[in-house]
Amino acid sequence: MNADESDEAENPMENAGVAQPSHPLKIALISLHGLIRAHNPELGRDADTGGQIKYVLEMARELATRPEVGEVELLTRQIIDPRVSDDYAQLEEPISDKAKIVRIPFGPKRYLRKESLWPYLEMFIDQTLPHFKRNGLPDVIHGHYADAGYAGAQLARLLRIPFVFTGHSLGRVKRERLSIENGDEDILEKKYRFTTRCESEEFALETATMVITSTNQEVKEQYELYDHYVPARMEIIPPGVDLSSFSPPPAGWRPPESIAEVERRFFCEPNKPVILAMARADERKNLDMMLHVYGQSDRLREMTNLALIVGTREDIRGLPKAQQVVFEKILYLIDYYDLYGKIAYPKAIPQEDVPEIYRWATVSKGVFVNPALTEPFGLTLLEAGATGLPIIAPNDGGPRDIIANCRNGVLIDPMDAGDIEKALLRALTDPDQWEEWSTNGLQGTRAHYSWTQHVTRYLRDIKDIHEHSTAPSLTISTRKRRLPSFDRLIITDLDNTLTGDDEALERFIDLISHNKHVGFGIATGRRLDSAMELIEDLKLPRPDLIDTDVGTQIHYGEHLTPDRSWRLNMGFAWQPDEIRRVLDSIPGLYPQAEEKQSEFKISYEMDPTVSPSIPALKKILREAGLRAKVIFSLGMYLDIIPVRGGSDLSMRHVLWKWGFAPEHVLVAGDCGNDAGMLLGRTLGVVVANHSEELNRLRGRPRVYFAQAAHAGGILEGIEYYNFLDKIVIPNDGSE
Ligand code: GLC
Repeated sequence: MNADESDEAENPMENAGVAQPSHPLKIALISLHGLIRAHNPELGRDADTGGQIKYVLEMARELATRPEVGEVELLTRQIIDPRVSDDYAQLEEPISDKAKIVRIPFGPKRYLRKESLWPYLEMFIDQTLPHFKRNGLPDVIHGHYADAGYAGAQLARLLRIPFVFTGHSLGRVKRERLSIENGDEDILEKKYRFTTRCESEEFALETATMVITSTNQEVKEQYELYDHYVPARMEIIPPGVDLSSFSPPPAGWRPPESIAEVERRFFCEPNKPVILAMARADERKNLDMMLHVYGQSDRLREMTNLALIVGTREDIRGLPKAQQVVFEKILYLIDYYDLYGKIAYPKAIPQEDVPEIYRWATVSKGVFVNPALTEPFGLTLLEAGATGLPIIAPNDGGPRDIIANCRNGVLIDPMDAGDIEKALLRALTDPDQWEEWSTNGLQGTRAHYSWTQHVTRYLRDIKDIHEHSTAPSLTISTRKRRLPSFDRLIITDLDNTLTGDDEALERFIDLISHNKHVGFGIATGRRLDSAMELIEDLKLPRPDLIDTDVGTQIHYGEHLTPDRSWRLNMGFAWQPDEIRRVLDSIPGLYPQAEEKQSEFKISYEMDPTVSPSIPALKKILREAGLRAKVIFSLGMYLDIIPVRGGSDLSMRHVLWKWGFAPEHVLVAGDCGNDAGMLLGRTLGVVVANHSEELNRLRGRPRVYFAQAAHAGGILEGIEYYNFLDKIVIPNDGSE
């Protein structure tokens, strides 16, 4: 086995503070949930396929028009599911010349709602690494929403590429709102996975060099709730409206057939101004309020028609329950207020006719109204504005900025029917006012909300970040390197995983010694010196790889060659003195002996009955402005390590370097400091004597909980995956 020199292929520039030469930028956008396709996107098809999807597609398209951008990849999930189009199964789809969608398979093949994606994100990371290896590393990774925020941040940390984050909507805000509305925290947690989501957002914020937000309010009232909120890293760059599609009606405009049909089928007097409301069938969009306003106002009913465009449906009963409720309310209120002949609520409007709907309302001298209870952004308001249709919108985040920038309508209180009616009448009965708002909207949206504008500002920041970052350390080297001679690898923890059952350990050693095609690695919380001591005591074979100090040090082979690039990686944002200063005074934390401490590992013994909880400790560090990972093991050890350390990242680093497929690697452990490496696409084995911290990995794909304890559990896992022969993965998590 000659893994010894695998460290030779280093990038001489790495971390040397050398600025990047300017070359056309390669940008990786990541957006994982929903249905993303470039042609005829199915916006509004479900709760996960809405504004964000549109945002990333348009951003990718516009970025690719710039000369300074060489390539844009939009990474998302591959979906193979008869319930959705097979477009989502294609591994690649061009968006334009220099932009494409890349669909990465991970987790089950079927379509999943975003709350169900969490267990598979590690798999996404492991699948994306070989993609980057084949296609070249991006200069910047930009994660969208908490899921891609987490996954993108992990990739960025590992590859040392600048990371940009856009939350789109934030878990804390949603949790607060829903818990006021429905109260039961447990049910909400189960349904929305808030803990995981908010932790992922913290992780993304901690990693991000820049956070892109759309509005002022988003920064002040949303990001500010996070421990890792750093004002200096926030950039407010509102997204654009696709001005090529949302333009005013030309002279002599006639409605397309789909809209002419709406007029014929729904309106007795189609020549009246149209009050247009367009939103997903979501309770929070407050559409029933519009029916109350309209149903109770004689003047509005007399003067206008009302059009509700509430998303495509075939059979209302086939929709998710929450949407059914919205439709049932609407249908009931139409009947209750007897609005027949005055209100349109078509089952479907072809996507390409959406801009025409706004033109239709504009030509009729109508108004666009958005009665949503909260509106963080309000893309439809911009689309209306860009078409010349005055807007009426809730006095909340997005609309406040829009109306301040464009002065093309009024803000209303979405709970106050009288207020909404008054605003509507003002737009509908004063032609001068209507003209002014219409013109202001046309001009204001173009000046403030075009993708051209957005991307110009975005690239200015990105270029700045790029010029000040060093070359990614894992740049693919063409230099030859000696690969390890084995084709599979077992990496195991020492204490309590390998040790504890001497007879089973004998058998394990025997197995390693007799299978030369299997490499052997150790990953431990011990320091290198103490790990080597134990390895000798136990008469283990010399490991090909030894990962010590809780994933902060890596050495290879016979001569314990240190991994220099990994070492350089650790110093990032690491402030050990500050961390000690903060934690030494916390009750229930007792520093471990000096010989257990090391350069990148601060270790305590912890008495959880006295000390704050782990989340509380994390919060304490964050609030002190410190960035670090907090790892709890065996119910009593607390390790604080650098953000770029830990066995999850160290394992990936090694596999990347060696070009080793994760499914050829079996990892075994028993406690919290092993959790990182047990996730991901390697084949995990948890021995039966594991500690409580690992229970949260139950049910995760590729994590096998053995019946046998200690080395017996590892042997059982080897058998489970048929690891020595033709590997099978019964718990793959994809059907
Ligand atoms: C080992 C280390 C100790 C660490 C623990 C958990 O026991 O010696 O310092 O806290 O592992 O990672």
